[in-house]
Amino acid sequence: MFSGYGVTDYKKEYSQALADPQSYWAEQAKNIAWYKAPSTILSKDSNDNDAWFVDGELNSAYLALDYHIEQGRGEQTALIYDSPVTNTKSTYSFIELRDEVARFAGVLDGLGVTKGDRVIIYMPMIAEAAIAMLACARIGAIHSVVFGGFAPRELATRIDDATPRVILCASCGIEFASVIAYKPLVDEALKISEHAVEHCVVLQRSQVAAELGNDIDRDWQSLLADAAPVDPVPVLSSDPLYILYTSGTTGKPKGVVRDNGGHAVALSYSLRKLYNVKAGEVFWAASDVGWVVGHSYIVYGPLFAGCTTILFEGKPVRTPDAGTFWRVIADHGVNVFFTAPTAFRAIKKEDPDAALLKDYDVSSLRTLFVAGERTDPATYEWLCQILGIPVIDHWWQTETGWPVASVPMGIEYSEPKAGSVALPVPGFDVQILSEAGERQGAGQEGDVVIKLPLPPGCLPTVWGDHQRYLDAYLSEHPGYYHTGDGGYVDEDGYLYIMGRTDDVINVAGHRLSTGQMEEVVAAHPAVAECAVVGVEDRDKGQVPAGLVIIKDGVNIEPGKLQDELVAMVRAEVGAFANFKQIVLVQRLPKTRSGKILRQVIRKIADRKPYETPATIDDPVILHEISDALRDGKIGLIGEGS
Ligand code: COA
Ligand code: AMP
Repeated sequence: MFSGYGVTDYKKEYSQALADPQSYWAEQAKNIAWYKAPSTILSKDSNDNDAWFVDGELNSAYLALDYHIEQGRGEQTALIYDSPVTNTKSTYSFIELRDEVARFAGVLDGLGVTKGDRVIIYMPMIAEAAIAMLACARIGAIHSVVFGGFAPRELATRIDDATPRVILCASCGIEFASVIAYKPLVDEALKISEHAVEHCVVLQRSQVAAELGNDIDRDWQSLLADAAPVDPVPVLSSDPLYILYTSGTTGKPKGVVRDNGGHAVALSYSLRKLYNVKAGEVFWAASDVGWVVGHSYIVYGPLFAGCTTILFEGKPVRTPDAGTFWRVIADHGVNVFFTAPTAFRAIKKEDPDAALLKDYDVSSLRTLFVAGERTDPATYEWLCQILGIPVIDHWWQTETGWPVASVPMGIEYSEPKAGSVALPVPGFDVQILSEAGERQGAGQEGDVVIKLPLPPGCLPTVWGDHQRYLDAYLSEHPGYYHTGDGGYVDEDGYLYIMGRTDDVINVAGHRLSTGQMEEVVAAHPAVAECAVVGVEDRDKGQVPAGLVIIKDGVNIEPGKLQDELVAMVRAEVGAFANFKQIVLVQRLPKTRSGKILRQVIRKIADRKPYETPATIDDPVILHEISDALRDGKIGLIGEGS
């Protein structure tokens, strides 16, 4: 039905990339404008890790902006800021965006920020967030964007880990009708953190005036008024472009490091070969700059490709209605669109017949990509039916930085299968291994792993903790990168992702660690022990629920405890975690040696079949937990067992 996309053969390209990665990626690297082209394609870094293009020199902001101006695209729109929550739309041509970025790079330079220094960006979805990121890249500083929904404690953890010289923030973010003042959150985080930040630069928005009362506070606009533009500085391919913290299995987030060279080659490749867009076309990813999708496909990827990108400050619904996505596509002639399935579940709930779609001309749209969480078949079918264009579910992670599996629309079109994330992308040798490390056959479930070397663009280390990188990703199955997802490959080579095999959950497309929430819940004076698990949710995919044991002798009404714990998780992690339910238990399922059986609890919560482990001390508790989670019951279970 959708033939005519393919120009070469996927199988040929895939096997070329695996048989001779060096030649394949050397060829792809020619598509970007290096200051100094790399002569070494694949080598080892000082951690003995695979490293791409080590002696290449480039600048990511130059590639995103100046390069296109040199190519004659200076007047073309580079970025559209579309904000239904403030009723604002503005556009920046490549020249205008380059000038803004160069001047803000001057601000950072004036504050003493130089190559290798870290800058934390805690900002909502406004153009200045992208400008700040690109300004860091321009001077070789390493940005670390923290999602605006994170509470001060989480921001403080990231400040202490990244040790930035400067923090950049806006006076507020806007969530539907409510305005969230950011500066008090930043002040609180700075109070909690041990690291001393030198400057806090605040962009005043008209909705809230932040108080700039601390010695380190600076006004964005005043600094900008005095700043001189700065030219891009060459950096090494292996120099970090950014750190993006992501949830792991413990409460402490992992600082995923992204290099400059591999990232630029991989993203440029993905825009051509996977998303099939060309310079001058409009690419829209509705996500947030605080997540990897925002980094790769709102800011860097589309700009590297010379596309127009859209920064949308709104929600799929209620800003003002469930037709807002269709309105943006029609207004800006979007050619390729990417968002999380949750967004469409919200739209479908409010407008099940997609009646609002009829109000807009969305004929510019060629392909829709979804990722970030599992797409349920009903939503997938609904999208196919209402849009009549290819709907591609594709799969990747913060760590990989770009898709691992997809329909490669710029290589060859293969019919998607509902429930599958399609085919491994050239460069990724995706395999399914059993726990014992044996390769699984078609249809057999196991750990989804990627045989080393990873292609360009994937994380080379965890910021400041290479051992954690080795432990988290490379030690489970030696010679393979461990994705943390379980799944299988069918007889046609299509990959199916069945969910995480660790303590990471995915709430409305947001990745969260249950360990992070457990730390908060366990800190309540009435709580003796707890386990937080992800429970299936029709709208948000998963939501967390806490299994809680109350301390002996403490008498607290379950509803009151639940309210207090919900308030604590909102205050310490963020409201977007959607922690709303606890179940009081007498005991947690444990091995006889006292280890909590998290894997079984997870399976119960996911309503997946589970085997009662031989080592369990009390099998009855499993049925009780299953019933309680299913019924959403707060109350004491397991009494007397
Ligand atoms: N800053 C501050 N608070 C935030 C926030 C942010 N950036 N993002 C979410 N929150 C808050 C919300 O205001 C809400 O607070 P409340 O409990 O006081 O109402 C809470 O976190 C839960 O938010 P959410 O789970 O997003 O639910 P919602 O009902 O507010 O919105 C959707 C539902 C579907 C509109 C929303 O989840 C959405 O847009 N999802 C798509 C997410 C996405 O694009 N992910 C892509 C990652 S690739
Ligand atoms: P993040 O690092 O926030 O992008 O989250 C990555 C995780 O989200 C993956 O490890 C998966 O568990 C999940 N994920 C991402 N895309 C998909 C998808 N298309 N289908 C199923 N799960 C997905």
